[in-house]
Amino acid sequence: MQSSTTLSSEPAALEILESGTRLGGTNRRYERRVADLEGIYSDFEAFNQYSASHGEELAYSVDESRIDDGAGALIVGLSVLLPGLIGTEYAMTRGHLHVKSDRAELYVCVAGRGILVMDDLEGHMRMVELTPGRAVHVPGGWIHRSVNVGDEPFSTVFCYAADAGQDYEIVRRARGMQMLVVTDGRGGWTTVANDGHVGYQRLT
Ligand SMILES: [Fe+2]
Repeated sequence: MQSSTTLSSEPAALEILESGTRLGGTNRRYERRVADLEGIYSDFEAFNQYSASHGEELAYSVDESRIDDGAGALIVGLSVLLPGLIGTEYAMTRGHLHVKSDRAELYVCVAGRGILVMDDLEGHMRMVELTPGRAVHVPGGWIHRSVNVGDEPFSTVFCYAADAGQDYEIVRRARGMQMLVVTDGRGGWTTVANDGHVGYQRLT
């Protein structure tokens, strides 16, 4: 099978730039605004209030290197999640399971402080705190989300299979992941159970 003809198969030299907030040598960038994250925070009212005045502001950005899309190809990039609180919850990404759910992923923290929150479909949950130099190897089968618990951008270099795909709907249908990462009121973070969580269901 022929892979995409629009992508180069030349090796890419990548460089972490601007204090870990940009990745040079990539060929794709996308950004999510605050308003794009509607529905992920448990305090809808706090989100709506914040989004009304900050909806167009950047929430997170991704610089990606996609060279090929065939079997065995990788997507390598840098994710930058800006800090903040919505209600009591720290700023986070939507969270997803890979469509090909056996596909693993590596996250290496290069700036800031955050948490990789992971749930499997059987009710297990894991969290790994990341600071520069720390990494987490997420095996297949784990829903994963980044949370910024610091006051600086939280940046991770990631790497996963190009054919993995992202299923965000599984988290939306479950009304969020099992645990919320919230402020402890003293400048730190803690977790509380997400009372709205209704369990994960795969449609396929
Ligand atoms: Fe992923």
